[in-house]
Amino acid sequence: MTIVKYSLEDFVAEMESLLQGQPDQQKLFDAGSNYLSRLIGNPNAIPAAFRVPSGKGRRANHGSYLLHQGASGLQVTAVVWGPGDHAGPHDHHTWGMIGVWDNALTETRFRRLDDRKLQDYAKLEQNRTALVKPGEISLLIPEVDEIHQMDNYTDRPTVEIHVYGHDLRGLDRCTYSLETGKISPFVTRKYDNC
Ligand SMILES: [Fe+2]
Repeated sequence: MTIVKYSLEDFVAEMESLLQGQPDQQKLFDAGSNYLSRLIGNPNAIPAAFRVPSGKGRRANHGSYLLHQGASGLQVTAVVWGPGDHAGPHDHHTWGMIGVWDNALTETRFRRLDDRKLQDYAKLEQNRTALVKPGEISLLIPEVDEIHQMDNYTDRPTVEIHVYGHDLRGLDRCTYSLETGKISPFVTRKYDNC
């Protein structure tokens, strides 16, 4: 008997259909994380070429590969963190779901303690740190719980599937300095989740 696995095409179709219904946040994350959970449970969900760091450029130890970009804004990428790879505190300005497909990643979340009245300053407090593992999903909720840092402390690449409600290319986002509190705006030309 052939077992048909839940594919990227299945996931995209169900997510686009879900978004067409303009779900509230609870419904979006409930249904969406159920779909993503099925996708990252498929050992063939990601093409082999998208499971390795890029090996070139400024972040040779990192990889981000576009799997889907919908007119709705839905963006699905495969993101690879090589051993020792790191992304400092940053935000997303869109909802997101991140599922670990292989290996593990340390994700640290931060909470803003300031009143957000200053444009270039934020006081951050470390909220929680977790070692996220295959099958686990973390959610990004704009302005509520979306500032995080990522580290691969293991000795092999970690592969994730990232899902966003907006194309990250050209989206105004920010990085945060824990030392000085400085907020630095940035825009990426690629679907870079930094
Ligand atoms: Fe991120």
